[in-house]
Amino acid sequence: KKVVLAYSGGLDTSVIVKWLQETYDCEVVTFTADIGQGEEVEPARSKAQALGVKEIYIEDLREEFVRDYVYPMFRANTIYEGEYLLGTSIARPLIAKRLIEIANETGADAISHGATGKGNDQVRFELGAYALKPGVKVIAPWREWDLTSRETLMAYCEKHDIPVDYSKSKKKSPYSMDANLLHISYEGGILEDPWMEAEEDMWRWSVSPEAAPDQPTYIELSFEKGDIVAIDGESLEPHEVLAKLNQLGGDNGIGRLDIVENRYVGMKSRGCYETPGGTIMLRAHRAIESLTLDREAAHLKDELMPRYAKVIYNGYWWSPERKMLQAAIDATQENVCGVVRMKLYKGSATVVGRKSEQSLFDESIATFEDDAGAYDQKDAEGFIKLNALRLRIAAGKGRKAD
Ligand code: ARG
Ligand code: SIN
Repeated sequence: KKVVLAYSGGLDTSVIVKWLQETYDCEVVTFTADIGQGEEVEPARSKAQALGVKEIYIEDLREEFVRDYVYPMFRANTIYEGEYLLGTSIARPLIAKRLIEIANETGADAISHGATGKGNDQVRFELGAYALKPGVKVIAPWREWDLTSRETLMAYCEKHDIPVDYSKSKKKSPYSMDANLLHISYEGGILEDPWMEAEEDMWRWSVSPEAAPDQPTYIELSFEKGDIVAIDGESLEPHEVLAKLNQLGGDNGIGRLDIVENRYVGMKSRGCYETPGGTIMLRAHRAIESLTLDREAAHLKDELMPRYAKVIYNGYWWSPERKMLQAAIDATQENVCGVVRMKLYKGSATVVGRKSEQSLFDESIATFEDDAGAYDQKDAEGFIKLNALRLRIAAGKGRKAD
């Protein structure tokens, strides 16, 4: 028997390696990915080796993550419950896919992960896994074992010679965190009281808006079919774009968020997020669409968006409905090309200019000056009268409008 584990190299997933070997008497294959979490992944190799793991996968997935997951999601201007940019949600389908591919390569019949039984992540990993390999066995130790307190976990480490000072180099954090190229998230600790403000030193990616430079930073973002392809005229790959925007956004205090959200499993949860690059991308994408998209296509997209966000949040990336929505969204992006000029300043990312060769904006029609016959204002009279017809009929029959 063989199981592929999503292995971070941290203490919890190291305990899982041992626990799987013991409890299931199985061969463990570890999979560790760099998706831009900002931590070295290579150390996971020696740690896995020390735990007796023979097949160790360590991969740089940054390019694929942004190109095939983050960018397609941003074409829809996706946000969950009006606020959350889905930084963790969008990384899970890729991890699930690689877990299954590695299971197929190594002849494993099971996968495992370190998500708890209370959250969204377990759902995302497992829905993905089942969609891609229907007969796969899933082992979720947090739902099975009794190492539920820090003490029992430490005792287990002691008994099995698992070094517990793994996180010595890192600054110790009281939060449950998750990071990738799109965001870093914080949950737990004092955040479990929704009234408590997060401490300033919790935030790792951005300066506070108060501490941001007094001079604004201007940038120009070039779009091609709905995707950012260049910053200030320099062509960049998607993951390079996001890394650069994270830097620019973080330096200017952009992208902090503090929310209470509804988890799929039914509970409310309080989380803080830093999404500097994503916050800029979302604004800029809306701006280029405002110039290049037909009104009804744009509005329909906006109606579909909350549904698409929920599909991703709840873990249904590998589903027919996601595929269907993606096709509709992508079909709108053909002419979403041009340049957006933005001002980054003390926590805000403001659009200050936009231009496009595919622009539908017609100055000769929109002008407040003489339009030389481009638009006949008399047409508006009949337009309004016919639209008012049903309102006039009702009012004429004595229905009250207020
Ligand atoms: N609440 C967010 C979500 O569901 C973030 C989850 C963070 N995950 C974690 N393992 N710390 O997408
Ligand atoms: C977890 O429970 O593993 C993290 C939180 C979540 O998945 O929503």
